[in-house]
Amino acid sequence: MEVKNNKLYFNNISAENLAKKYGTPLYVYEAATIWERYHSLVDHIQYPHLKVHYAAKANANPAILKIIKDLGGGIEAVSRGKIELALKAGFKPSQIIYTCNGAEVDELKYIIKKGIRINIDSLDQLETWGKLNPNSNVSLRLNLDIGAGSHIYITTGGQKSKFGIHISNIKDAKKIAQKYNLTIIGIHQHIGSDVLNPQVFMKAIKALMKVSQHFGDLESINFGGGFGVPYKPEQKPLDTKKFAQFFDKALNKFVKEYGKELDVLIEPGRYLVAESGTLLTTVTDIKSNPSRTFVSTNTGMNHLIRQAMYFAYQKISNASKVKGTKKKVTVVGNICESADMFAEDRTITSPKKGDILAIHDSGAYGYTMSSFYNARVRPAEVLIDKGQP
Ligand code: LLP
Repeated sequence: MEVKNNKLYFNNISAENLAKKYGTPLYVYEAATIWERYHSLVDHIQYPHLKVHYAAKANANPAILKIIKDLGGGIEAVSRGKIELALKAGFKPSQIIYTCNGAEVDELKYIIKKGIRINIDSLDQLETWGKLNPNSNVSLRLNLDIGAGSHIYITTGGQKSKFGIHISNIKDAKKIAQKYNLTIIGIHQHIGSDVLNPQVFMKAIKALMKVSQHFGDLESINFGGGFGVPYKPEQKPLDTKKFAQFFDKALNKFVKEYGKELDVLIEPGRYLVAESGTLLTTVTDIKSNPSRTFVSTNTGMNHLIRQAMYFAYQKISNASKVKGTKKKVTVVGNICESADMFAEDRTITSPKKGDILAIHDSGAYGYTMSSFYNARVRPAEVLIDKGQP
């Protein structure tokens, strides 16, 4: 993405031309950004048995899944639907890991039939799994009382969180495993999402390594995802080099203590795709009252719900006129809800009717969380790869 003649471009195609060709609202993804982010996260890590399982809940567009496949990654899937999308994109069952709380028996039967690895989320799930599939291998998703995230709703550790087998239940989990002759070959943890502070990761990584000593048959240890992106102008990107240095050091120590080199898994979602995506929308209406100017667009919380759901901040620019006279505006959607707002009192280049606005960093948890609310259809999606849509 770059600015030419004061307009936003994706390689050689302007946002306005993309909007003309495909209509708006439109999700535009840039393949090059995904490649870049993948390498920046992974390349600094020296540990030889690192496996990246992309959290497909962030964005399961088939073209994006294919990029992840070409990059050599696997998939973290939360449902049968995500598994089917991954299989369709060409991933082998052995490249997919399934993690779901409250999974239905039929879904577990499907996982067993396909031979897909599972991170068991609760003692009940472990019991059900044991009955369905005794003498098998399992991994456990643990909740070690460490949670983090840029909003309480995306924090997935700690006693207020529904996720994982709490640390206080480990003994019981081992008993159930014994009852059904299950071998616990993996432990997993995902503390939350959109974390930019490396200290938090370090704490969580150390805690999972420590708890691994309770499990003698491990083949893998999975640190989940959560790597944040700088949505706000004042935020700094995650220092992936520093993270890798810490990670390698901790892993080397861990290998010595555990006495065996395990597969080490991470499950990034947002980090790989958020910044690759832009939601383009057309300004349809502008109105002012004594305190605010509202800029209405032809998209809404039905297409991008992060602002309404987590008070999330995403940058917005005027793709038709990147620089110029600025105005403080409230950018809203066309949905019949007061939470349908993308930015409150935000200063952007003064928009006029028909301008194309770009809502940046929308590649993760954008389209995947979209709905048919108000009977408005979902936006189209287009991938720019090697300069071409
Ligand atoms: N692994 C597990 C088990 C997860 O539950 C998740 C995300 C990830 C990995 C990937 O996390 P990431 O690297 O993307 O932070 N809709 C929210 C985010 C929800 C994340 C759910 N779990 C948002 O728009 O911010």
